[in-house]
Amino acid sequence: MQIGVIGAGQMGAGIAQVSAQAGFQVFLSDVDLARAEAGKVGIAKQLARAVDKGKLDEAARDTALANIAPVGEVEAMAPAALVIEAATEREEIKRAIFGRVGKVLGAEAILASNTSSIPITRLAQAAPDPARFIGVHFFNPVPVMGLIEVIRGLATSAETVAAVERYAQALNKRVVHANDAPGFIVNRVLMPMLNEACFALGEGVATIADIDAACQLGLNHPMGPLTLADFIGLDTCLEITRVLFEGTGDPKFRPAPLLVKYVEAGWYGRKAGRGFYDYRGEVPTPTR
Ligand code: CAA
Repeated sequence: MQIGVIGAGQMGAGIAQVSAQAGFQVFLSDVDLARAEAGKVGIAKQLARAVDKGKLDEAARDTALANIAPVGEVEAMAPAALVIEAATEREEIKRAIFGRVGKVLGAEAILASNTSSIPITRLAQAAPDPARFIGVHFFNPVPVMGLIEVIRGLATSAETVAAVERYAQALNKRVVHANDAPGFIVNRVLMPMLNEACFALGEGVATIADIDAACQLGLNHPMGPLTLADFIGLDTCLEITRVLFEGTGDPKFRPAPLLVKYVEAGWYGRKAGRGFYDYRGEVPTPTR
């Protein structure tokens, strides 16, 4: 089966990698061919690391890499049965993509979005057939995280849900079904915790290092909340928190002023070299 993945950043490349490893033939695109090819180079590095650790054999690596075809235009995805969009989290960009790829896809093809915050029912309006449009939300790092949230829009058909379930099963990932509500399940629960850690820091409850150590060791979380916020991206955390706040109208979701301040400073976290921690040295050091 042929699959299209639009967006070759961290999430798109992860989705392309696990799909290729599961035996799907993957078209991978980004704003241009060079970025799509760079995404494949990153995947090759991930797979090489797995081979070095003895977790993957060389033949499986070669097969997975051969399954990924970087393309310069989404129109090249015409033969795909499933196209997953993992582009920038901006509605107008996603809508434009659905308009373009929707024109060339076959009558049975499914269009999915990896959005973490934009309502699926609204995005479906830009797709050729809302019955064949669905939310398929992966988690970072995609090769490690065992979950896919499946979000049904108002018009999504039962056949579309079943097809995506079969795809998730091939990837060996557990599906949970969420209604098209702000934040779906994971971000509805996670973002208030990360936001609250920002309130606690801003109110001087504890230091960055102690807030993280408290949750990591006291709750057995793999990462403290401020480390995790940096890992996700503070701009993304703020964006999703705003979606929760605006989508529910509930003041309990209001963004922490300190989170807003870090984003306004351009300290977006790990990807920017600085967030709650400074990543520019040998080891991350707290910025406060
Ligand atoms: N890609 C592929 N594999 C990766 C990876 C990556 N980016 N990062 C780590 N791994 C693998 C490592 O290779 C290692 O594999 P093996 O056990 O097979 O050797 C394994 O993960 C553990 O990695 P490390 O030993 O280097 O480090 P760790 O034990 O600290 O784990 C972590 C790293 C998996 C990221 C872990 O800290 C973790 O699970 N953190 C929480 C991540 C999380 O909550 N993600 C969800 C974010 S929310 C989201 O994505 C959705 C949204 O809408 C915002």
